Formats: sequence, structure tokens, C-alpha cells
Amino acid sequence: MAEFIISQAALQRNASLLQRVACEGGVRVLLALKSFATTGCLPVLQPYASGCCASGLYEAILGAQELGGHLAVYSPAYDPEDLDQLAEIANHIDFNSMEQWKRFAQRCVSFRRAQTCELQFGLRINPAYSTGKTPLYDPCRPGSRLGIDPSLLPDSLPSGICGLHIHTLCEQGAQDLIDTFHALEERCRSLLHDPALRYLNLGGGHWITQPGYEVEKLVLFLRELRKHYQGVEIFLEPGEAWSIHTGVLRTRVLDVFESLGVRHAILDISVSAHTPDVLEMPYRPDVFLTEPSGSTPSVAETPQPAVCLPGESYLLAGQTEEMSYTYRIGGVSCLAGDVLGDYSFPRELVPGDTLTLDDMAHYTIVKTTHFNGVKHPDISMLTQDGTLTSLRRFSFEDFKNRLG
Ligand SMILES: Cc1ncc(COP(=O)(O)O)c(C=O)c1O
Repeated sequence: MAEFIISQAALQRNASLLQRVACEGGVRVLLALKSFATTGCLPVLQPYASGCCASGLYEAILGAQELGGHLAVYSPAYDPEDLDQLAEIANHIDFNSMEQWKRFAQRCVSFRRAQTCELQFGLRINPAYSTGKTPLYDPCRPGSRLGIDPSLLPDSLPSGICGLHIHTLCEQGAQDLIDTFHALEERCRSLLHDPALRYLNLGGGHWITQPGYEVEKLVLFLRELRKHYQGVEIFLEPGEAWSIHTGVLRTRVLDVFESLGVRHAILDISVSAHTPDVLEMPYRPDVFLTEPSGSTPSVAETPQPAVCLPGESYLLAGQTEEMSYTYRIGGVSCLAGDVLGDYSFPRELVPGDTLTLDDMAHYTIVKTTHFNGVKHPDISMLTQDGTLTSLRRFSFEDFKNRLG
């Protein structure tokens, strides 16, 4: 049975680096729940996170229940009923258009918690400065619906607004943030220096826990910002950075066959339903042939997946034809393109083999579906003491009940 396995130790490794950035930079680092909301893992992150950022009501309730701390909410638009409920638990609510703010301003300032400043309101600005390469993930692409163009804003913050929010990065470095902030300063100088400004949220996309990220450069930049914008609290809300390199998806080979010169291996998961970003982003995940220890020589320096179980060895599959046996690895759904990619192995694959797909915690577990009724992988956590603890088992009832 396929299974997502998340490593508690790896989560703690990421979380302690993010907490260090918060302490040394003098900012609050929130967890963007959209990237990783596995309820059973949230208590692991809770001691390190300053709170969370939610995309709407359900994530906000989850964050309030399981993480506590500061709760920032941003959505491209709000349903008035959701807004009333959010007003009971959120600390920041950020608006995406002047239209939404004007429609709700009166309602917002009269919320009980707004009058004591426990609840504050902000505007998401589009600094129109693209640093990424993938249009699908670029909120600054021409005609973007995310964030207000500064030319549509007055020179001073509208009454009731005391926060500014940007989110433009995706898997990017400290210099990208610095460049983006300079672009924002160029376009919004008067708003940034408005005496009413109380918070500045620099969004997510900071790849802080990725090897090679310039952590010290980020910390120095955050310290500079704090000096320059005194009295303004600074927030980062990364998602990926909390859970990259913390989880894997273990799968089994169900069939191996050849069709018109292409050797196929079919797994017991669906790429479309269980690893959708492989198709959406798209990208090629690392795949490891997984065997009992001893049968494959395991050299300490060879690449290893994010989670290794005791008694197993892992061999990174190669590019097409790099090793003797190349397979097109596919899922078990009816979708013609339900394909992970072409990978090569040192031996022939056979039904029953285990393949471990690497780095499958962030933006994967939150996006799965029951498409084709393919069995949903279970979810477990490998705890610090080496125990594999089940967090969720899925059954036919979950498939049946999901769609009413
Ligand atoms: C508003 C906002 N904040 C934070 C994030 C988290 O970004 P990442 O997971 O790239 O760090 C996102 C991701 O799309 C977002 O839209």
C-alpha cells in the first residue's frame, strides 16, 4: 500500500532554521498552511512557528486550533460570512483589491477585535517586479489578479488600513527579496513611510531551508528593514521552506510491460491524483529503487531520499539510458499523461518492487484527490525515536463519502 512518510527530525531541522531567522532578523516567521497542513505534524512545527498564514476560513480555523500564535489571512476575495468568522480569530486580514476593502471597510472597523487592534487590516500590493521564471507561479505577470497596482492607490494609507502585504517569490533567494523590496520602495515610498503603517508582510517563496540559500544575507536585510521602518512589524510567511526535504511517497510497482518499444512500469498511485505538481509545475522528482539492506550496496555518500527507513537501502534512478534498464514510470489512473517520467535502473523492475518518490511533503499531500478511485496513500510520520506512527489511513468510505 502506498504511503506518504514524513520525518519528524527533518521537520524540526527546517523549523529550527526558520526560528533562527525570526530571532536574528527580529521578525515573525509564519507557516503558510497552503503548502503543508498535515494536522498530525503541526504539533512538531508549533514550538518554532510564530503562527500561520491562511488562505481562507478553513485554514484559519485549523491554524487557530492546532498552531495558535499570530494568524494572518489573505484571500483574493472574501465571502462576507467568512469575514465575520475570520474576525473572531485572525490578527491580520489582507485585501486584494480596493473594491473589496471599500465594500467591507465599515464592517471591518466595527469588528469588536478591530477596536482593540487585536485584528488589523492590510492591502496586498503588486510591486510588478517579476523574479521567477514560471508564469503559473508569477503573481507579477502582466494583468495579474493578485495584488493592487500601486497606481490605483492613494498616496497615504486608506483609513482603517495599517498593513501592506506582498507575495511575489517562488523558490527564490535572499537577493530576489531584496530586489523586489527595492522595486516596492520605488513605487510605494509614501505608503511605506505612512505613520499609520504597523505591519509589512513580505509573503512567501523564501527558500530559506534549501541548501545554498543565503541565510545571513536575509537576516542582515531584515535587520536593516527594521532599522529603517521603526514601529513596523515585519512578517515572512514561507510555505515550502517548512517542509522541503521532509517527506517521501513510497509506492509499489504493479506491472511492467513493453509497448511499441517503450518499457512501462505502473505504480500503485496516480501521478495526477497524488503528486499533481509533477504535471502542473511540471517537474521530475527523484526516484529511489528501495530494497532490503544488503542487496544493493549502500555507500554513505550516495544521494538518499528525505526519509530512510531502517533496514533498507536506496539507489537513485538515473536519466533515460543512464543505467541498463529504462522505464516510463506511470500511475494507475486512466489519464494518458499520468506519467512521472522516464527513469533508468541497474536491474529489471518486477511487480512488487518498491520505488520511493522523493520530497513529497510540500504542496503534494495538501493537493491529493480520489480521482479514478485510486487508493489514497496513507500518511505516517517517522518520529525521532525511529517509530513509524500512522497519522491517517484511507479507506473505501473516504472515497465514497467525499462527493456526497
Ligand atoms: C500569499 C502567499 N503567501 C505565502 C505563500 C507560500 O509560498 P511558498 O510556499 O512558496 O513559500 C504563498 C504561496 O503561494 C502565497 O500565495
